[in-house]
Amino acid sequence: MNIKHRKLLSLVVAMDKNNLIGNKNTIPWKIPGELKRFREITMGNPIIMGRKTHESIGRILDGRENVVLTRNNSYKKLGVSIYNDFSLLLDNYRDTNELFVIGGSEIYKLALPLANKLYITHIHKEYTGDAWFPNIDFSDWNVIEKEDIGESRHIVSHSFTIYERINE
Ligand SMILES: NC(=O)c1ccc[n+]([C@@H]2O[C@H](COP(=O)([O-])OP(=O)(O)OC[C@H]3O[C@@H](n4cnc5c(N)ncnc54)[C@H](OP(=O)(O)O)[C@@H]3O)[C@@H](O)[C@H]2O)c1
Repeated sequence: MNIKHRKLLSLVVAMDKNNLIGNKNTIPWKIPGELKRFREITMGNPIIMGRKTHESIGRILDGRENVVLTRNNSYKKLGVSIYNDFSLLLDNYRDTNELFVIGGSEIYKLALPLANKLYITHIHKEYTGDAWFPNIDFSDWNVIEKEDIGESRHIVSHSFTIYERINE
């Protein structure tokens, strides 16, 4: 039996029409169901985030190893794994089946060239903000799952899309 076993580096993000992801260290929108979905996708797996995203979340996300990147080598937080070097982090988690990068902008930039799976909530609207996801060359990616959610009274139209990298 030939089972191809592959470790995944996955990015999870919600972005507007212009790749905007944040404003003043917060998320510019509220999408019902989005947090629940994020929790389901990442549950049980390590989640990698930048120090700013960690502090903007303001707590440890349960059921997942919270891994924070900072250049400050005296940064300490109870219950959080701290790394100063992204390559060392990736090396230490090389046997993890699926490693999730959850933002923000600086950490997505580091991780996108190495990622093989993207979970993107595309929000079909434009917002104002100051943090963006890097440009994605969609010719490198195949859509493997897509769910469109239309606009309604409390919901902005969005599409939950999963991509896999082509020709690795
Ligand atoms: N829409 C979404 O899905 C989503 C998801 C996550 C975050 N966000 C938003 O994104 C924004 C935050 O993004 P951001 O880019 O400002 O901050 P960030 O990526 O969360 O964190 C940046 C910090 O990470 C550390 N860092 C960056 N590169 C590093 C490297 N090569 N080695 C070690 N440490 C490194 C530095 O920490 P030190 O300064 O401590 O050295 C840096 O200040 C917020 O608005 C947040 O709400 C949105």
